[in-house]
Amino acid sequence: MGSNNMHIVSDSKTAVGTTLENLKAAVAGETGASAKYAAYAQAAEKAEFHQVARLFQATSEAEKIHIGMETALIVKAEPDYQGPIATAPAPEFTDLNLIGSANGEIYETSDMYPSFIKRAEEEGDTAAAAVFGRAKAAEAFHAQRYLDAYSTIDNPSDETYYLCPVCGYIHKGSDFERCPICNAPKDRFRTF
Ligand code: FE
Ligand code: FE
Ligand code: FE2
Repeated sequence: MGSNNMHIVSDSKTAVGTTLENLKAAVAGETGASAKYAAYAQAAEKAEFHQVARLFQATSEAEKIHIGMETALIVKAEPDYQGPIATAPAPEFTDLNLIGSANGEIYETSDMYPSFIKRAEEEGDTAAAAVFGRAKAAEAFHAQRYLDAYSTIDNPSDETYYLCPVCGYIHKGSDFERCPICNAPKDRFRTF
């Protein structure tokens, strides 16, 4: 899956450990992102950017799906594992929250996850490589949705966001049948 967009940026900022350590680092990153997006959703709603608020809500929930997939692998090795509790940063202006969030998603899709996938493949851990791969694919779409919301912030549509409950993919608008990442059917998606 995604074999032509798995390259790692040359100035990688990811500290790569064992796959178990990488799974924990991914959960920490996803937990922070989910909390941040929930705070940004509240800020956007308060500033009357309703569509942006819905996107941040949907993406906050998407990151919880990634946390769940990764935690399921961690607890196979460490049954007592407890994930971190995140504190959200103070929101900035909503346009800057969108750009910052897009940057975070681009980091994950072009650096963190491909680095972790490479290591998982070296360890022969196909289950972890698959989980990282699904999350990586979803993050690229998250970045795309954030940049779209940034570019249309003054002319928002009222289209619904659809969240794949399996992999965290987000679609804008109702013109699709299945998840392009994991093939889940539209009727399983959550709407925002
Ligand atoms: Fe994620
Ligand atoms: Fe994401
Ligand atoms: Fe999916």
